[in-house]
Amino acid sequence: MSFSATGETQFRETTPGELALIETIHASAFGREEEARLPQAIIEAGHDVISVVAAQGDYLIAHALFSALEGAERALALGPVAVVPDHQGEGAGTRLVRYGLDLARERGWRSVFVLGDPAFYKRLGFRRDLALGAVVPWAGPSFQALELVPGSLAGWSGLLRYPAAFGQGDAD
Ligand SMILES: CC(C)(COP(=O)(O)OP(=O)(O)OC[C@H]1O[C@@H](n2cnc3c(N)ncnc32)[C@H](O)[C@@H]1OP(=O)(O)O)[C@@H](O)C(=O)NCCC(=O)NCCS
Repeated sequence: MSFSATGETQFRETTPGELALIETIHASAFGREEEARLPQAIIEAGHDVISVVAAQGDYLIAHALFSALEGAERALALGPVAVVPDHQGEGAGTRLVRYGLDLARERGWRSVFVLGDPAFYKRLGFRRDLALGAVVPWAGPSFQALELVPGSLAGWSGLLRYPAAFGQGDAD
């Protein structure tokens, strides 16, 4: 079949019926269930999210979730992000995150925090120094931030509260 070889990749928000498919994207990319269950748990808990996919026809090749954080003004957490193994390294992950960042900016979000490989996220504009003021259980070299509004994290520091599904970041 030729559709995936010739079909162009489209970037869009997910539909409610795609939660099970999204889980399989993360399960195949990460090879374990922890990240795979996160999107559904966060979305079903009613958090404010931006959930985006890369699609080739009916086939979803990548998913990224942005979810609202408490503790900094209009701040989002990015993660998990996953591209199915067959399509990794083709630029889909980069383009999908950029698409989500553009949507977030349009909707008035001011900053985005991520825990991930700086070799991937630095290229997208994430910086470690911007995240240094954040009090989170996973602080360290892989914890980075990006300002959607220039200066939005200047001088900021405080406790960031993640949706409960992320685990120990939640204080409930
Ligand atoms: C990490 C991931 C989302 C990247 O998406 P992708 O579509 O494969 O990556 P892209 O093709 O857009 O970009 C790859 C570029 O980033 C670079 N890169 C650096 N570190 C990387 C890393 N850890 N993973 C992937 N790419 C990395 C590559 O060298 C490449 O650079 P180039 O374009 O200059 O050659 C994807 O590979 C994936 O799902 N991996 C498994 C799950 C995972 O580890 N997720 C982490 C995010 S929470």
